[in-house]
Amino acid sequence: MKVTQQTALKNRNSLSLPARCQRLIEIENRSDFNDLPALIKANEPVHILGGGSNTVLTQSHLPHTVITQTPPETAEQGITLEGELVLVDAGAPWPEMVHWAVNHGLGGIENLAAIPGSCGAAPIQNIGAYGVELKDVLEWVEIFDWRLGRFFTVNNAQCQFGYRNSYFKRHPEKPWIITRLAMRLRSDSPLRLHYSGVRETLIHLGHQPETASYAQVAQAITTLRAQKLPNPAILPNAGSFFKNPVISDAHYAALKHNFPALPHWPQEHGGHKISAAWLIQRLGLQNIRVGDAGFYRKHALIVVNYGQASGADVLALARYVITRVQKATDITLEVEPVCLPETI
Ligand code: EPU
Repeated sequence: MKVTQQTALKNRNSLSLPARCQRLIEIENRSDFNDLPALIKANEPVHILGGGSNTVLTQSHLPHTVITQTPPETAEQGITLEGELVLVDAGAPWPEMVHWAVNHGLGGIENLAAIPGSCGAAPIQNIGAYGVELKDVLEWVEIFDWRLGRFFTVNNAQCQFGYRNSYFKRHPEKPWIITRLAMRLRSDSPLRLHYSGVRETLIHLGHQPETASYAQVAQAITTLRAQKLPNPAILPNAGSFFKNPVISDAHYAALKHNFPALPHWPQEHGGHKISAAWLIQRLGLQNIRVGDAGFYRKHALIVVNYGQASGADVLALARYVITRVQKATDITLEVEPVCLPETI
């Protein structure tokens, strides 16, 4: 375990926002968890940081103790098989987990290829892409409770997953750190190719959609993502900045008058999910900048740091866009990443 004070986090968040935390605890192996109860005082603000790819550091100083887990040297070292389940350490990078699975002929998460971040962060926002969500394969999550000094398992139902949401995301006050995930990955898992662009990309890459391997689907998804989303190593960003809002049927019917081309997806239990990116573009908000915080030229849902943006710049941009969208549509956009310490 490594403990440092006033630690810079600029290189630990994919938006490259400058911030320092009061104290950083880096967990290096499983036995380190047992030292946490003695280290953390009651009422001390604590934040768990994974890969930092879904986090917005809104101020330059965080009063928190930040806990992070050092990734295993290779993904393989963090992965174990237990019967039909694949177990992975929370610190392992998610893209490497997917790579390992598809190269071992195991399906279920190939559509979630190339999503940046750690495995431990994946259940918090129930990562999802191209018609698949983590909840579809997740069996249980192991957590360590640093008040009780014990490991627990939380099953899929207890995680209370929703669209980009979970019990963990709704309850950041819990003294818990996710330590491992167990997923049911199968060699006979059906391919899910219905999302726009997936089949076309497979064909473009020279693969047969119906008989494609999991590795080929992962390759197609990686290609699609690279076309749409900026690489954080080149243009710092945190993926989709807003959730796609779900509105009532009546609200959608009213909006359709003013915005007939608005992309929408009817939901299983009523209501419509609509495209936040489309609205931002249509309302002419895509070119707005606050300092160096602005939207990605090729995708209006991605806030990027064009240089020296601060957390305050990102907050101001987000608040302005939320107000404008609210006035024009009566929809309150919700920010997708975790904002810390100030929420929007
Ligand atoms: N669109 C626009 N303008 C844009 C971008 C998109 O009008 O600038 C329209 C597209 O034409 C399309 C619709 O919006 O009709 C959906 O676009 P896209 O397929 O790019 O997906 P998205 O809604 O922007 C969501 C997820 C992504 C995920 C993709 C693919 C959320 C908040 N985002 O984005 O997840 O990769 O679908 O499944 O649900 C993330 O969570 O960080 C993330 C990147």
